[in-house]
Amino acid sequence: MIRIENVEKSFRKLPVLKGVEVEMEKGKIYAFLGPNGSGKTTLLKSILGLVKPDKGAIYIAGQDIQKNWEYRRRIGYMPQIAHFPENLNVEELFRMIRDIREMKGDNEELVKYFQLEKHLKSPLKTLSGGMKQKVNAILALMFDPEILIFDEPSTGLDPVSHLKLKQLILRERDRGKTILITTHILSEVGELADEIIFLLDGKIFFQGTTEELLASQEEKNLERAIAKITDREEFEKLAKREQHTSAVSRLFHWVA
Ligand SMILES: Nc1ncnc2c1ncn2[C@@H]1O[C@H](COP(=O)(O)OP(=O)(O)OP(=O)(O)O)[C@@H](O)[C@H]1O
Ligand SMILES: [Mg+2]
Repeated sequence: MIRIENVEKSFRKLPVLKGVEVEMEKGKIYAFLGPNGSGKTTLLKSILGLVKPDKGAIYIAGQDIQKNWEYRRRIGYMPQIAHFPENLNVEELFRMIRDIREMKGDNEELVKYFQLEKHLKSPLKTLSGGMKQKVNAILALMFDPEILIFDEPSTGLDPVSHLKLKQLILRERDRGKTILITTHILSEVGELADEIIFLLDGKIFFQGTTEELLASQEEKNLERAIAKITDREEFEKLAKREQHTSAVSRLFHWVA
């Protein structure tokens, strides 16, 4: 469904993507992991055509995206940081996006699902952070796109809304959508991801299932496996401190 070939991108002198090669199939959820600043958002924006790679190519359903802009209509995007036209209210925003995209789009059911009916007439600037996230999620989903890209969608969502969003993501996957998501919430990775794609030093360090990632690091816990990959030195210091603390607490236990 999506093929990324040798994509490179630098910002001024800073190389961020250094030859990214990855393939994603239809009907799966891919979780993009990697430390802050590892290029996850940059890579997702490259797929959306919002960032132009210096080198390489991206294919969606076999089409080179540089040569075919129509593909954008098939992608729903929930950005990490959303910028709304603040003077509009929620309803007006939905209408504006429908007009721009010249597509019908159905937000009614989604508004109900996220319990936003009462806020349809609220100016966007008065919405809380979590409410803005819900509006953002609705914008990504309302045109029923084949590919969904969620860049840290859960930030600021309360537990009920978070559960609802996760259920929605799984439902869309089961309807055959291809879903790309970044998150630092690791429980979400376990619950949602069919595959993990781990970005490190500008390249794909790992692609595979959660179980395969754990096995590759000889760890049982995803947080530890990721910490080990990201910063081996810090991880070993932490592990030493942990051993020390548990030895001391065992000693206390014994003395007591
Ligand atoms: N428009 C830009 N101009 C200059 N530098 C940029 C730009 N966008 C991203 N960068 C830099 O590229 C690097 C990768 O940023 P990116 O936002 O892709 O990281 P990320 O993996 O999404 O991080 P996070 O987990 O914090 O969201 C960072 O060093 C960032 O400062
Ligand atoms: Mg990011």
